[in-house]
Amino acid sequence: MATVTEESVRAAQKRPDRRMLTATPPAPMDLRVPAQVRKDLRDERRARRRGPMPPGNPYPSWTTTLTTFTDPLKMLLENRRRYGPVFTLRHGHELIVWAISPTANHEVLVSKADAFGWREGRFRDLWPLMGDGFFAIDGDYHRQMRRMLLPGFHADAVHGVAGDTVAEVVAAVEQLPAKGIVDINHWVRDTAMRVALRVLLGIDREDDEIHRIANAFERALAFHGYSIPTQMLRGPRTPYARTQQARAELDGHVYEEIRRRRAAGDPGRGVLGLLLQCTDGDGNPLPEHTIRDLAITVMFAGHDTTTATFTFLTYELGRHPHAREALLDELDTVLGENDPTPDQLDGRALPVLERTLDETLRRYPIAWIGPRRVLEDVELDGVMVPKGVGMFYSSWATHHLEEFYPSPMAFDPDRFLPGGQVEQLPKGSYIPFGGGSRMCLGKRFAQYELRALTAVALRRFTIDPDPADPLKMSFTPTLGPKNGLRYFVTRRD
Ligand code: HEM
Repeated sequence: MATVTEESVRAAQKRPDRRMLTATPPAPMDLRVPAQVRKDLRDERRARRRGPMPPGNPYPSWTTTLTTFTDPLKMLLENRRRYGPVFTLRHGHELIVWAISPTANHEVLVSKADAFGWREGRFRDLWPLMGDGFFAIDGDYHRQMRRMLLPGFHADAVHGVAGDTVAEVVAAVEQLPAKGIVDINHWVRDTAMRVALRVLLGIDREDDEIHRIANAFERALAFHGYSIPTQMLRGPRTPYARTQQARAELDGHVYEEIRRRRAAGDPGRGVLGLLLQCTDGDGNPLPEHTIRDLAITVMFAGHDTTTATFTFLTYELGRHPHAREALLDELDTVLGENDPTPDQLDGRALPVLERTLDETLRRYPIAWIGPRRVLEDVELDGVMVPKGVGMFYSSWATHHLEEFYPSPMAFDPDRFLPGGQVEQLPKGSYIPFGGGSRMCLGKRFAQYELRALTAVALRRFTIDPDPADPLKMSFTPTLGPKNGLRYFVTRRD
């Protein structure tokens, strides 16, 4: 039996309360475009004074700018071949150092992570919508936020809500027509948003209210799909005006939920419930806007990524009948006529499904770049990078390096067979969820949800991409199919 010693009491007193936010939030950002451009150029001048930039092309280039929007993977792999794993390019006005190698990834994410900041990197673009949620915070403020939310993402917590996730997915799959043409990306987006709102955040509302919240969110997020010049337009009916309106609507829904729970004296379920039990250093409840920033971040991170992953997975299975047959065999053998139980979703019961998901996330790691600002002079894969510049690592480009993944463009789940090729790779070669202390917080939840979506949908339906609607990719802020993707769906039973 554990005894309470003076020492253990002192240790407990020293241990900061895991439900307390004592760190000071960062100062608001000045995101007016001229101010940003001036700051980026000033930072570049200072960085250049500290030492030479990594090799590359520091001049404005139409080719770089255009291919960044049309085929960034090709652009990155070509420049890596030309300049080596760490190189410099100018995107618009901004000089960016790209780091593309397992070694550099491991340094950025783990061994030299303190040399990089998120807030001043390009994640700042998400600040107007997500505020001081995860993507624009660093240091103690980030550490305490992460600690507050962690209980909602632990293995037990995710396993505990897996039944609810399956129920939401089953309800959505049963809405598909027995035979017809469906925009699967649109369908799964709607489904994943319901899961994020009901299961992750714990918002128990009727379908039409959930739909209104989801709709306001999508309209606010749509702003990031516009080109930078269009984003800069101001005035009525511009994307900026529309996003502000949608954001105000969305905030209204979130504040109403917070006030409703506080008035009822019951924090309620999900991540929102957790946050409502947290306090500041004086024991006061957290400010509404702090909870709002985290709730919106969870909505974004919690549905955009799973949506695109499922769409890409069904797209690749439609083009690779072999891989699809292997998966269907497994689903029929292991699940038979039943939907998966939470235990069957832990990654061990359905190994073919697991390999198929792993390969999908290799070919399409949705969060394909990790933008940072360099906070101190640092060596990446043997190349010095001066303090002050913007830096991106890219999981997408790393996952397509021929020396680590032979025939990198081929979709082949068997790469992930136990004892196979991928197990021999160095650290930092497979990073769809990032790594280190900022590894994706929702990784486990996303995996359960994707397994549930795939098992429930493919057990009931054959889902084939429509050859008349070829995949066109969009890259901002995450990878996804541009304008959705049409599929033929046919009920298997
Ligand atoms: C297939 C699904 C997903 C993928 C591929 C993915 C990928 C990633 C990646 C790569 C990062 C790190 C980015 C970087 O290093 O720059 C990240 C961070 C994060 N993800 Fe995910 N994610 C997924 C789903 C989710 C879900 C469902 C949630 C739920 C809330 C979530 C929440 C977060 C959060 C909060 C962070 C920031 C963590 C921190 O800064 O401490 N993600 N994700």
